[in-house]
Amino acid sequence: MGNFKIELPKIIFGRDSIEEVPSLCSRWGKRAFIVTGQSSSQKSGVLDFLISELSQLGKEIAIFSVHPEPSALDVDRARESARGSDFVIGVGGGSALDVAKATAGLVYEEEPTADFLFSKAEISTNPIPSIALPTTAGTGSEVTQVSVLIAERNGERIKTSIHHPNLLPCYAVLDPSLTLTCPPSITASAGADALSHCLESFFSLGANPLSDTIAMQGIALIMNNLKRAVERGDYESREAMLLGSLLGGISLSLAHLGAVHSLAHSLGALKGLPHGVACGIFLPTVLRFNQPKIEDKLQILARYLEMDSSSLIEKVADLLSGIGIPKNLREVGVREEEVDRIIEGCAYSRSLKYNPRPLSPTDLSSIIKSLL
Ligand SMILES: [Fe+2]
Repeated sequence: MGNFKIELPKIIFGRDSIEEVPSLCSRWGKRAFIVTGQSSSQKSGVLDFLISELSQLGKEIAIFSVHPEPSALDVDRARESARGSDFVIGVGGGSALDVAKATAGLVYEEEPTADFLFSKAEISTNPIPSIALPTTAGTGSEVTQVSVLIAERNGERIKTSIHHPNLLPCYAVLDPSLTLTCPPSITASAGADALSHCLESFFSLGANPLSDTIAMQGIALIMNNLKRAVERGDYESREAMLLGSLLGGISLSLAHLGAVHSLAHSLGALKGLPHGVACGIFLPTVLRFNQPKIEDKLQILARYLEMDSSSLIEKVADLLSGIGIPKNLREVGVREEEVDRIIEGCAYSRSLKYNPRPLSPTDLSSIIKSLL
C-alpha cells in the first residue's frame, strides 16, 4: 500500500467564502502584501473587496501584480517589496498564487530565488503567513507547497519548481463566484491542467489509496463539467471545476505527477505557452504511451466513471479537443529542430520518475515527434 503523508492549509470552500477572508487576517499585523494577476482579480471584484475590507480593519496594503508564467526574478522583486509585511494574500490564477507563496516562504532569505529552484540554497528562515484565493479552476496551487517558476540556466529558459513546507499557505479560500468572470480560453487551459493533475496522480508510481480516492472524484467532476464551464460558465459547473481543481492539488501533493508535466514545463519554458495548454497537448499521447502499465487502474477508473475502459483515453482526447486545446505541437509552432531542447528541459523535472512507464530520451523523442 505504501506510506503517505500530507500537510494542507485550512481549506474554506463554497459560495461567499471570500467574506471570511477579512476575519482570517484580522489577527495578523498591519501590513498586507497582495499578489495578484493581470486582470482576473479586478474583473471579479475581489481586489476591490479586499482593499475595502482590509482598509476598514486598519491594514496598510501593498499590491504586487504578476504576469503569466512568472520568473524567479519576479519573485526576487516581490520578496524585496514584501519585506516588513505581516502577511501575504495571493489572489488570481496559478501564476499569482505561486509568486505569493514563494514570496511568503522566502521573504527573509538572502539568496536569489533561482538558487532555491536549482537546489543551490536551502530555506532556513520562517515564512510569513499567507492566504491563497484562486480565481481560476486549474493549478490547485492554493493547497500545494510548490511554486513553479522560470529561470535562466546556461543560457536556456528553464521551468522548474521549489518544493518546501514554507510555501504552504495558512488558508486556501475557494469561492466559486471568483471564477465566474474567467474567460473561456483560460477556463479551458486551467481545466486541462486540473484534469492532468488528477489523471497523472491517479496513475503515478507515488499513488496511494488516499490519492486514488481523491483523484477519481476529481476526474469525475472535471470530465462531467469542464465543457459546460467553458461553454456556459454557469455557477454549478464553475463550482464543480473549482472542487475538481482542489482535489487535483491535493492528489498531486500526495502522489506526484508524471511525464505530461515534465514535457509541459519544458515546452512552456521554450514557447511561453499557457501551462494548461501544454499539459492538454501531451495528456492523451502520454496516456496512450503509459497504457500497457496502467491497464488495471484504467479499468478501476472506467468502472468508477461508468465508461468503457477501452474508450476512456479517447474520451479524454475528445474532451480536450472539444474545448479548443490544440491536438498537436505544430499548431503551437514547435519545429522538428526543437525536439532535443524539449527533451533536455525535461531533465529539470521531478515528475518523470513517477511516470508509471519509464521513459528513455528515445521515448520522449517519439512522443514529441508523434505530435509534430
Ligand atoms: Fe500543472
